Amino acid sequence: MLITRKAEFSASHVCRVETLSDAENQRIFGAGANPNGHGHNYVVEVTVEGEPDTRTGMVMDLKDLKQILEEEVVEPMDHRFLNREVPPFDRMVPTPENIAGEIWKRIEPRIGGPARLSRIRLYETADLFVDVFRKSAAK
Ligand code: NI
Repeated sequence: MLITRKAEFSASHVCRVETLSDAENQRIFGAGANPNGHGHNYVVEVTVEGEPDTRTGMVMDLKDLKQILEEEVVEPMDHRFLNREVPPFDRMVPTPENIAGEIWKRIEPRIGGPARLSRIRLYETADLFVDVFRKSAAK
């Protein structure tokens, strides 16, 4: 069974590679390369898989999942300039792919068995989202 909790945070970012020229950054990232940054209202969905406990009927305690999301994602990232304030984005381009991967790394160790993290979905805009699954997260 899969169970999903959603949270939102607003953050600014710049998508550029400092070792590339302005022209190259513009070509690769478009307006997102502007060093002044711009914001998004991100929506993250955390999906946990497992079988409901025979006594409680729950795959995992959703209060705990909410708390983990709050501590690992919302509190450190909400109203932050990701490149300047949230490592590793001081040295890694905060594309939605990289942000979703970082969220997986933060959440996964905190999901206690028998439940386990199944998917992180990160919406950067209403029509753009990234999915991270166990296989693609294992590095
Ligand atoms: Ni952007």
